[in-house]
Order: sequence, then C-alpha cells, then structure tokens
Amino acid sequence: MKNEKAIADHWAQGDVYALIVSALGKMSKSLDEVTLEDLAPVDHFHARGFAATQELADRLPIKAGQHIVDIGCGLGGPARYIARRFQCKVSGLDITQPFVEAGNRLTALLRMEDQVTIQQGDGQRLPYADAAFDGAYTQHVTMNVSDRPRFFSEAYRVLKSGAFFALTEHGLGPNGDPHYPLPWSEDGSQAYLMPPLETRALLEAAGFEDIVLEDTGAKYLAGYRAALEKAEKGMLPPLGIHVLMGQSASQKTRNAARNIDEGRTHPIQVICRKPSASNF
Ligand SMILES: C[S@@+](CC[C@H](N)C(=O)[O-])C[C@H]1O[C@@H](n2cnc3c(N)ncnc32)[C@H](O)[C@@H]1O
Repeated sequence: MKNEKAIADHWAQGDVYALIVSALGKMSKSLDEVTLEDLAPVDHFHARGFAATQELADRLPIKAGQHIVDIGCGLGGPARYIARRFQCKVSGLDITQPFVEAGNRLTALLRMEDQVTIQQGDGQRLPYADAAFDGAYTQHVTMNVSDRPRFFSEAYRVLKSGAFFALTEHGLGPNGDPHYPLPWSEDGSQAYLMPPLETRALLEAAGFEDIVLEDTGAKYLAGYRAALEKAEKGMLPPLGIHVLMGQSASQKTRNAARNIDEGRTHPIQVICRKPSASNF
C-alpha cells in the first residue's frame, strides 16, 4: 500500500483536470468544442505521445464491438483514441486517482462515456473477471511495477484465449544505472526496470506466445530531442505532458534521452498473445 501511494503521489496530486482546462483556456479553446486531437498533446503520456499510440494501434487486431483493457491508462487518451478508431469499448485502470478523475471528465467532455470508463486500481490486482477482454495493452507503466510476474499473470487471466497483450516501456540497458530524475521516478525509488530479455522470459512464463519484441530506442531518442529543442526555443505549447511533469520536466526529458544514448535504458514495444483455446 505504501509503495502504491508513493507511485500515485509521484504521478499526480491535486486537480489535473483544472490544469488541462487552464491550458486550453490559454489556447482560447472552448470546452464545448474540444476534440480528441486537441487533447492528444497531454493525454498520451509516454515517449512520442500520440504518434506512438497510433503506431501501436496500427499493429493491434481490434474489431468493432470488442472490449479492451488499458492497464495504467493515465488520463485515458490512448483508450479514447482506440475506442473511437476501432468502435470498441475500453476499460481503463490507473493507480493515480487524480488521473482517474481527470480522465473520466475528459471522456465526458468528448461525450464518450458509453465507450470508455476509467477506474482506480493496481495492475498487479486487476478488478476484472477471468477471460473478460479481447485484448490488453499497457503503455509506459511497467517501469513502476515491482511484481512483474503477477502483473503479467493478471493480464493473462483477464484475457480471452487468443487475445493480444501489448506493452511499451523503458527496459534496463546494459550500461549501468539510469540517470534520474525520470518521468517515472525522481531518484530511482519505485523504479523496477528490467532488461528486455528478462521481460520476454517473464511473458513466456506467464503463458504468452508469439512474442514480438521491437527496439524503440532510436524513435524515442528522436522524439525526446525534438521536445527538448522546442523547450530550449521556448516553443512548448500551453498544453503538453510538460504540464503533468512539473518543475523538472526538462531535466526528466534530458535524462530520458541521455539514458537511451548511453545504453542505460533500452526502450521496447512488445506484442504477444494468450494461446488460442485449440492450443491448450
Ligand atoms: C507514463 S504514464 C502512462 C499513462 C498512459 N498509459 C499513457 O500512455 O498515456 C504511467 C502511468 O502508469 C500508472 N501506473 C503506475 N503503476 C501502476 C500500477 N501498478 N497499476 C496501474 N497503474 C499504474 C501511473 O499512475 C501513470 O498514470
């Protein structure tokens, strides 16, 4: 519980929705007319933001009417995008209550409550029935997960047979400890990075198959460098993930880039699936 609170407190405290509304106000955006694309700079809270979600979605075999779970959904930008793109339902779960509250208000703003719901919870103890979902994804969450075997076995449990599981994260690189602060930790506390091959082995041990692991380091590095260049030129827009990362946003971004460059982190995207019923 102590660890859970520390992680949630790290990600957000207070009224995140008010922060977003204030930034939209600076952009003279009326709340009645806000679109999913308007919110994308802030509500896809991971390396390369909306572009990375779109590229991940290109690879996911989601059909209209299916029910997908987003584990560690944050503000729910990816959940709303996937729900709209595939005409499916998405249930989101996140450990950080201020994100859950803001996420549900953003969903209401876009009038998508019948497709997307977000609740507070821990991905290591999913509050869902067995075989409830047609697919699951978790973007940039596992860096904070202390019990990966449990996290993966919970994802496996709630999936139907044949369903996909997708994951993006910063894995541990071969060249020493990462520099902090980083978006997921100020000083290395509540950070549980793991080398990609160990992640793959744990996914296999949980029962997943057809594991495709991709190195996303070069793409992330380019994304971080572009964000840093904008920040240095004072060109960051009012609405962006810097609003969520607080005072040390630039330093976190600089360290995220430096860690990849120095081989201290090893970012990956993984797509795998629970075996089909006929393979059991
Ligand atoms: C970098 S943000 C990513 C949010 C979202 N996946 C996205 O891509 O926009 C990391 C998120 O993981 C959540 N998180 C961390 N540990 C978690 C856990 N054990 N269970 C559920 N959510 C968790 C944090 O609260 C935070 O919202």
